[in-house]
Amino acid sequence: MSLNADPAFWAAANTHLTRYGPDFEAIIVERAEGSFVYDADDRAILDFTSGQMSAVLGHTHPDIVATVDRQMRSVAHLFSGMLSRPVVDLASRLAALAPGLDRVQLLTTGAESNEAAIRMAKLVTGGHEVVAFAQSWHGMTGAAAAATYSAGRRGYGPVAPGSFVIPAPNSYRPRFIHPDGSNDWQAELDDAFSLIDRQSTGNLAAFIAEPILSSGGILELPLGYLAALKRKCEERGMLLILDEAQTGIARTGNMFAFQRDGVTPDILTLSKTLGAGLPLAAVMTSQAIEEKAHERGFLFYTTHVSDPLPAAVGVTVLDVVERDGLVEQAIARGARLRNGLLSLQQKFECVGDVRGRGLLLGLEIVTDRQSKAPGFELGAKVMEEAMRRGLSMNIVKLPGMGGVFRIAPPLTVSDAEIDRGLAIMSEAIDSAIATG
Ligand SMILES: Cc1ncc(COP(=O)(O)O)c(C=O)c1O
Repeated sequence: MSLNADPAFWAAANTHLTRYGPDFEAIIVERAEGSFVYDADDRAILDFTSGQMSAVLGHTHPDIVATVDRQMRSVAHLFSGMLSRPVVDLASRLAALAPGLDRVQLLTTGAESNEAAIRMAKLVTGGHEVVAFAQSWHGMTGAAAAATYSAGRRGYGPVAPGSFVIPAPNSYRPRFIHPDGSNDWQAELDDAFSLIDRQSTGNLAAFIAEPILSSGGILELPLGYLAALKRKCEERGMLLILDEAQTGIARTGNMFAFQRDGVTPDILTLSKTLGAGLPLAAVMTSQAIEEKAHERGFLFYTTHVSDPLPAAVGVTVLDVVERDGLVEQAIARGARLRNGLLSLQQKFECVGDVRGRGLLLGLEIVTDRQSKAPGFELGAKVMEEAMRRGLSMNIVKLPGMGGVFRIAPPLTVSDAEIDRGLAIMSEAIDSAIATG
């Protein structure tokens, strides 16, 4: 019998754990290292989601282990009004990487960083209306959840008044097209903002956006879109908040995804990847915005704000990214992975689209390429077959789209691991088709 079936473990899990989302995987993870997690049978499972899209240095990276050990022995947590060196070091390092975003607050989770960003935008603009994409995910707490439209809206009562939405551009399924059939995202954006202007009561505070909508099915904002969006915000006196929870820290082949577009947001939030798997987030903004917020009494005071332990981890993450050339690695390994996925698209009719940047890629499963009808069941089967063969991947299911695999291995992934993942994917699709 597999040790993953441990009856006592599952009896206790089923009795005592609250179910907070989709079903738990039917394995017991005992340890993790590099690009792999190991189950109770000591089976190596290739982790192509970097944990929850966060472990950019892989699991139990020796430099992170050393930093946690060292910092834990000196100082881990403090009174929220006290400062320590790792906090000022990390703030300075981040500011140097993002010119124009000189002021940094260190927090814990993605949702929390977006709460702080939205709260600051409201205080500074005097508005309260917040616009987001219809396929967004910004977190599970108040303002972040109010701006999250890809899941979880029903059953929890009213969201904040003035929560507005526009469609995210989708090049595979464009809603507005040029005569040549390509995505006319500018027409879509203009149309969307004309509707925002009708709904607004004149109190627009912010637009919050992911540069690549990950939970929304790896929808990449086309080059030029971010600049156009920033102009829309400026015309209306609203701030542009970019949520780089998943795209930040080298993953897309830039340190931050917005750098490809040459557009600096008013507020940038970082989380998941910044702590490489440990809870660390940052909210970055300009000196002018921070000063205005401070003058108006900005308050975002939390238990773990400016904690030295996660800050020290963040400094180590940046050190390793720089020392090991992980921006370049995301580009090189990302190209290898993308080429492999494109080969799968050649081979299998059910692979409708391959998209994304660097090591944040999406592969959309459809039932046939003409209709682009969603292949949810097939996608779920592929995921199951991949897991059986030792590859962990995550599929996004959203109305109006096919099942989209979000593929984001650690930036430390090797060529051999990428090839192994691609081989498993190919076998898994083959088997899912044969048994489906
Ligand atoms: C883009 C984005 N923002 C925010 C969040 C929320 O982060 P957390 O779960 O750490 O609160 C997520 C989580 O998936 C995310 O993908």
